[in-house]
Amino acid sequence: MDMKIKIKGVEFRNPIIIASGPAGFGEEFFKYVLPSEIGGFTTKTVTLSPKEGNAPPRIVYVKDGILNSIGLQNPGIEAFESKVVPNLPNGTTRIISIGGDSPNDFSELARRIESFCDMLEINLSCPNVHSHDVIAADEELSKDIVTACRESTNKPIIVKISPDLDVVEQSRVVVESGADIVNIANSLRGAKFNVETGQAFLKRISGGVSGPAFMPIILWKVYQVKEAFPSLPIIGLGGVTCSRDVVEYAIAGASLVGIGTEAMINPTGIPKIVKGIAEFLEQKNVNFKDVVGISHKGGFK
Ligand SMILES: Cc1cc2nc3c(=O)[nH]c(=O)nc-3n(C[C@H](O)[C@H](O)[C@H](O)COP(=O)(O)O)c2cc1C
Repeated sequence: MDMKIKIKGVEFRNPIIIASGPAGFGEEFFKYVLPSEIGGFTTKTVTLSPKEGNAPPRIVYVKDGILNSIGLQNPGIEAFESKVVPNLPNGTTRIISIGGDSPNDFSELARRIESFCDMLEINLSCPNVHSHDVIAADEELSKDIVTACRESTNKPIIVKISPDLDVVEQSRVVVESGADIVNIANSLRGAKFNVETGQAFLKRISGGVSGPAFMPIILWKVYQVKEAFPSLPIIGLGGVTCSRDVVEYAIAGASLVGIGTEAMINPTGIPKIVKGIAEFLEQKNVNFKDVVGISHKGGFK
């Protein structure tokens, strides 16, 4: 059965997108997985200047997931262009994630990465960089950033939104400003405390929760956005560990499904997930795109 998905002229061999961050720039990940085995790869978020990231500890295990406070560590656009780009994977759809503070930061990045990617992803929702709220909490700033990127590139634009805010409202704002796809979602803000010391594990107290614990929350958000904007392509992202999770996201309304934490913990499991989706489609005798949003049409007949 057919697993291909085409969005805005860009083809994904299958619906699996490696999410921004946990697999870095793919240095380790592609020792275990061939680019041709996945639908697409998203780089770690790149910013104009290099970022050292937050003080350790940066990752704490929580029930059925992890709490991270990486803080967008990356080498900055100059080193990205000269050192990272030559080693990015070929043979899969390439998405470059960009981050910054202002519309100018984002539009300059959009221009500079354009020729190296098939799509770009605007990260408006990292919970670990600003002392204030995520960028997506500021509607005007979000609009200005997406509009500035839209004017700077012809490549399709994905906007990654926050699960801590109203996802339907965020989707409306970014689509009206020129986004082609929404990615639901970045990690959810959370905290963990040490019962012996009475202190938070993370220096910034809060971090981003990801992993299986988080999946039902995101499934519901994907469902809501699909209901509000039936023709908007959605990336469902949060907690996927197996092929049935991917199918669940499609049923809720996701055309593509991201995998973050699992790609870092168990990269060799990713091709097995793809195989499992193919087996499921075979058994149901449907193509992947027929499953997308099927819960809105009363489910499988
Ligand atoms: C270690 C780590 C680093 C991350 N770095 C980024 C990042 O640079 N940019 C971004 O948009 N999301 C980042 N994320 C969020 C993931 O892309 C994803 O939205 C989140 O982890 C939920 O998916 P998952 O449950 O499959 O991990 C990071 C997540 C983790 C765990």
